[in-house]
Amino acid sequence: MDEQATATEEPSTQAHSDAALIRLEGVHKIYDLGEVQVHALRGVSLEILAGEFVAVMGASGSGKSTLMNILGCLDRPTRGHYYLDGTDVSQFSKVELARIRNRKLGFVFQQFNLLARTSALENVELPTIYAGITPQEREQRARESLARVGLAGRAHHFPSQLSGGQQQRVAIARALVNRPTILLADEPTGNLDSRTSVEIMDILQRLNEEEGLTVVLVTHEQDIAQYAKRALDFRDGKLRRDTPVRDRLIAREVLPTLPSLQDDDAAGET
Ligand SMILES: Nc1ncnc2c1ncn2[C@@H]1O[C@H](COP(=O)(O)OP(=O)(O)O)[C@@H](O)[C@H]1O
Ligand SMILES: [Mg+2]
Repeated sequence: MDEQATATEEPSTQAHSDAALIRLEGVHKIYDLGEVQVHALRGVSLEILAGEFVAVMGASGSGKSTLMNILGCLDRPTRGHYYLDGTDVSQFSKVELARIRNRKLGFVFQQFNLLARTSALENVELPTIYAGITPQEREQRARESLARVGLAGRAHHFPSQLSGGQQQRVAIARALVNRPTILLADEPTGNLDSRTSVEIMDILQRLNEEEGLTVVLVTHEQDIAQYAKRALDFRDGKLRRDTPVRDRLIAREVLPTLPSLQDDDAAGET
């Protein structure tokens, strides 16, 4: 059959040029601490397609952050393969990982990790240093990014002048500034009250729906996972369940039902 004729044409890369944006095959991660080894991921295989919104769930210590570090090219699997957009990155060097990270991935964490004495605009601009563009273009992109999270009017505020929710939105703008295809968020609402958490989910849902951004979100809160389209449950380093989210919540429908804390956000957007 056809296979014979094509057998000489790079079978290993061809085999994975499919629709999956993320594909893990038998991924293990073992942290070697000298005296002990921690087997944090124990054979994880999964696929995430472009445009998905996935919640990663599981108890503390189940391997969620380890998984995110690997998906985010911050760390490599000990064994197994990670195909990112068709390319096996599991044996990439640190430099190669950094390059692909800058091109394809945006990160949001529980701690907002903003520089304190630096304006919102400058915080958002930081990751563009390596993008090889002019200072004017960098500022322009940072302003666009802030506008996408509804903070156009807060460009010159310092983190201390912003609420927790606004700081997290600045962090999301920073994650978006290099136009990633995937946004990885590790407990982004972990430090926020419930209304502010839903506001953050509103932003993530809009980016996913309106701009086709692929979102992978770690949370241990069931009600936050309800905003995703698909839930992955981890236990002891293994993927135990992979299910579509039923009765999915839509943040912009939920927000009007929640009490407002008289946040002055709206003023910043006009
Ligand atoms: N850098 C590390 N060095 C050693 N052990 C680690 C490291 N990061 C995580 N672990 C261990 O790996 C396991 C999974 O941790 P983690 O991925 O952080 O889980 P989760 O994010 O679900 O809480 C835990 O037992 C944790 O102690
Ligand atoms: Mg974690």
